[in-house]
Amino acid sequence: MSKASNITWHAATVTKADRHSQNGHASCVLWFTGLSGSGKSTIANAVSGELYRQGISEYVLDGDNIRHGLNKDLGFSDYDRTENIRRIGEVAKLFVDSGTIVTTAFISPFRSDRDQVRALFEEGEFIEVFIDCPLEQCEARDPKKLYEKARRGEIKDFTGIDSPYEAPERPEVTIRSDQLSVEEAVQQILQYLQEKNII
Ligand code: PPS
Repeated sequence: MSKASNITWHAATVTKADRHSQNGHASCVLWFTGLSGSGKSTIANAVSGELYRQGISEYVLDGDNIRHGLNKDLGFSDYDRTENIRRIGEVAKLFVDSGTIVTTAFISPFRSDRDQVRALFEEGEFIEVFIDCPLEQCEARDPKKLYEKARRGEIKDFTGIDSPYEAPERPEVTIRSDQLSVEEAVQQILQYLQEKNII
């Protein structure tokens, strides 16, 4: 619910459909979800690179980066994570309206938060991409040594350790990032976009 009153929604002159026809492709959000260290950022950037090479309008919104700016007032309590995802969802909606294929790389651990974001979009625009990697594998990789710190108790509320991760029940795409190469993951996602006539 909005706190402000006396505000009016303005209809835009140029519509999303206009942008789709000018771009020659539709727009959507590829909503990645998965544990820390599962490969979200790596695969998101590889997808973005391939779309860019194909002349497609694309953008990546990444967890660590957004937390340096827009969401720097938020931490990792359940409440803050929910607010983090709500804001990213609204930003992603603006990108989709602009005609862009936006890839978001956030843990987004709570099913209800992801479902709330899904509800912002039209049918077929929200594509949930589960970056599925067993916790043991993420912990073995530990690229930022955060699991090590979490196990030592130096980080509280760490996803998968002392904060929950609720895996998607019906994601549009599942990427077994412990079994596929980055290139294979990119191909699987691009194939989905082609099958749905988005690109
Ligand atoms: S969330 O749950 O969606 O709000 O998290 P997100 O915005 O994606 O931020 C996750 C990145 O923050 C770092 N980090 C933590 N992750 C999980 N739990 C805790 N407590 C935590 N503290 C810091 C970590 O680098 C995450 O990055 P990724 O890329 O997922 O490894």
